[in-house]
Amino acid sequence: MNILSPSVLSADFAQLGEGLQAIASGGAKYIHLDVMDGHFVPNISFGIPVIASLRKEAEKLGLNLIFDTHLMIADPAKYIKDFANAGSDIITFHIEACESPDHAVQIAKNIHSLGKKAGIAINPHTSINAISSIAHIFDMALVMSVVPGFGGQGFIAETLEKTRYLRKNFPNLDIQMDGGISHENLQIVLDAGANIIVVGSAIFGKSDVTTETKSYVSAMRQI
Ligand code: DX5
Ligand code: ZN
Repeated sequence: MNILSPSVLSADFAQLGEGLQAIASGGAKYIHLDVMDGHFVPNISFGIPVIASLRKEAEKLGLNLIFDTHLMIADPAKYIKDFANAGSDIITFHIEACESPDHAVQIAKNIHSLGKKAGIAINPHTSINAISSIAHIFDMALVMSVVPGFGGQGFIAETLEKTRYLRKNFPNLDIQMDGGISHENLQIVLDAGANIIVVGSAIFGKSDVTTETKSYVSAMRQI
């Protein structure tokens, strides 16, 4: 099934509660939460308390959103429990932040022991070999289609090759693509085999977030 995961990175952070409501009204089932620490990426966004507050707000509003947390942080192992307790349903961390593939597997096991889904993210310029031997441990692979750190960047088309490879070799794996996705390239992203699609600025950069969300939800159903 194809799923839209709107990223709040480009939202007005003073109105994140309204943002939740707006994407849920547009039919989104997921919310993508980009955590940046200023070390792994050269930008700082938000962290554990903001996610915990959003979880409470979602509950208060009766919204059943899946919290899809993307950790762009240097030491993910240290904070897995905190992000799980804050209300993340899926916790994705970067292979580039791990000492070895075995280290990534250990972190995934920790995530699973907390009853959450585990995702492994791979940067545009990292070879697929870095995750091909461990992808089966994960619920989701996140193929970054921009260099992580900022919303609103251009889509790097070469990354589609990694998605095609993963889809061919792991037919049942959830494959997420993240960065620079809009109506202009949604079709090629889905054709490559991605089924969880992150859209940030193309939704939250627009004035009517609900209408934009609806347009992506319906485009993904039709394709
Ligand atoms: C980039 C983030 C993305 C970003 C996507 O580091 O991981 O989730 O918010 O935003 P757009 O869709 O604007 O590229
Ligand atoms: Zn992201």
